[in-house]
Amino acid sequence: MTLDISAIRRQFPILDQELIYLDSAATAQKPQIVIDALKEFYAKKNANVHRGMHGLAEQATTAYENARTSVQKFINAASPEEIIFTKSCTESINLVANSYSSRREGVRGRGSVVLSLLEHHSNIVPWMMCGAHLHWINIDEYGNTRLEQLDTYLKQENIELVAITGQSNVLGTRPPLKEIIQKAHAAGAYVLVDAAQLVAHHQVNVQELDCDFLAFSAHKLYGPTGIGVLYGKRELLEKMPPFIGGGMMIKEATQTGFTPADIPQKFEGGTPPIAQAIGLAAALEWLEQFAWKDIEEHEHALLKHAEHILKNIDGLKILPACHPEPDEGRHAQDVMVRRAHHDMERSGCLSFVLDKVHPHDLTDILGEQGICLRAGHHCAMPLHKRLNIPASTRVSFGIYNTIQEIDILADAIQHAQKILQ
Ligand SMILES: Cc1ncc(COP(=O)(O)O)c(C=O)c1O
Repeated sequence: MTLDISAIRRQFPILDQELIYLDSAATAQKPQIVIDALKEFYAKKNANVHRGMHGLAEQATTAYENARTSVQKFINAASPEEIIFTKSCTESINLVANSYSSRREGVRGRGSVVLSLLEHHSNIVPWMMCGAHLHWINIDEYGNTRLEQLDTYLKQENIELVAITGQSNVLGTRPPLKEIIQKAHAAGAYVLVDAAQLVAHHQVNVQELDCDFLAFSAHKLYGPTGIGVLYGKRELLEKMPPFIGGGMMIKEATQTGFTPADIPQKFEGGTPPIAQAIGLAAALEWLEQFAWKDIEEHEHALLKHAEHILKNIDGLKILPACHPEPDEGRHAQDVMVRRAHHDMERSGCLSFVLDKVHPHDLTDILGEQGICLRAGHHCAMPLHKRLNIPASTRVSFGIYNTIQEIDILADAIQHAQKILQ
């Protein structure tokens, strides 16, 4: 069944405005049903969770824990206890970097973490802050991760963990997660997947992937801001110490110490994002009415159309547009295989540079016309350095975008180009 995009758009009140929203990779817009769930909670059901004995508190606790079960089902985790609510994808990764690394001898100062050059700063800086020794997987000229480098690191270094994006927030490329996870596990390393971009565009099944940790935010998934998710395998979460101390996360506290609560509460110190969890559950329920196949087909068509129309604009280069590394040593067939892989795997967004036009000037002019794009390094400075550019312009899609919007964008870019060049 194809998606009825006009009907979908009517469910997003913000899209009533004269607006072409092509910035869903930064944050997705919210359907009315999510806005209503937040309003309804605050208007009729507001109470703290896991604390009061009164009816409202019990209702709020049930709704909060039901939201955990919704997330468990959404990513097919083995149990709700493996779902930790945080404030964001960023906090989820920080939780692992701090908690996991303080438990194991390795990562803090001595062990090694493998990252790719596709990573967002949220999946770079926490590993730097916990003192891990970093190894970087480069990308080839098509934006694919160079897995032979992962093989080398896994063979030669004492790798504790591979922290890898499920989908680049700049190029839209998707590293082959299953293969990476199998390789890492064979070498005794754990894998954390940064699924901030992936979850809104592709079905995620953590048991099938067999990843050890997976992090994402609700706000890129048509849900509210202020809530993130950390999935972790039970046996790992049970061994890790808490990250944030406070109420809710203890079994017992004395003048001299405390005993942590069981998972998931152990990692949820303080009042959690209750309304946001309920909003997230509403977003997941809303998404469930669509088949992933239909979402992917629609977004793939948008992306292909955008690639086709934008690459015909004079002086516009779609990224990666970079050169092979000098040591690459490939042969022609290898290149073709990788190119095919690249074509299949890009999703959600593309970024570009335009000759003699700064991305900020371009997005300023487009913004005045109600066309929302993102300009800058998109919190991926190491990637931009690899591409030898300081900044780029990103076009990113959600379920509500249309081919017509892309046509308007292309005309607007050409018009802006005449003014700016
Ligand atoms: C790939 C990726 N990882 C992590 C993040 C961080 O997400 P948040 O800011 O919601 O914590 C983002 C946000 O843009 C992202 O694109």
